[in-house]
Amino acid sequence: MAILDILRFPDARLRTKAKPIDEVTDELRQFIDDMFETMYEAPGIGLAATQVNIHKQLVVVDVSEDKSEPYCFINPVITHAEGEDVCQEGCLSVPEYYADVSRAENIKVKALDRDGKEFEIEADGLFAVCIQHELDHLKGKLFVDYLSPLKQKRLLKKIEKLTKQNATA
Ligand code: NI
Repeated sequence: MAILDILRFPDARLRTKAKPIDEVTDELRQFIDDMFETMYEAPGIGLAATQVNIHKQLVVVDVSEDKSEPYCFINPVITHAEGEDVCQEGCLSVPEYYADVSRAENIKVKALDRDGKEFEIEADGLFAVCIQHELDHLKGKLFVDYLSPLKQKRLLKKIEKLTKQNATA
């Protein structure tokens, strides 16, 4: 397995729209394993292929505390969404930044699993938030896009400052 490089906001490649996956191959399963390893190592609770610069419709999620609930969603589609919930979110592509985002409270998602078999799952709470966040990545969308223009401006300034500090350190 391998740890993959995670793209960081405001990298323009994070804006790429992911393409559907035609066939679930051994090569793809290897990539899924790498994505899980990268996510756990970060550590994070979700990772979209977009974030490692592979523009295919694939995300991995595990919101458990002991790596016991790994979910892989290939070509995921939200088939049902209801309610509203505001939750503080972060993102491996936007390190050390957290903000409140409003999402659907309950969702249903249809996808293929790592064997290429279709499944549908209901999610709520953190699991639902995480799935919606990851699916946004596949559309080239980031959680910071939901923030006010002023907050986005401040975030970009903060990143610029951090980048400069790292460059001179
Ligand atoms: Ni993210």
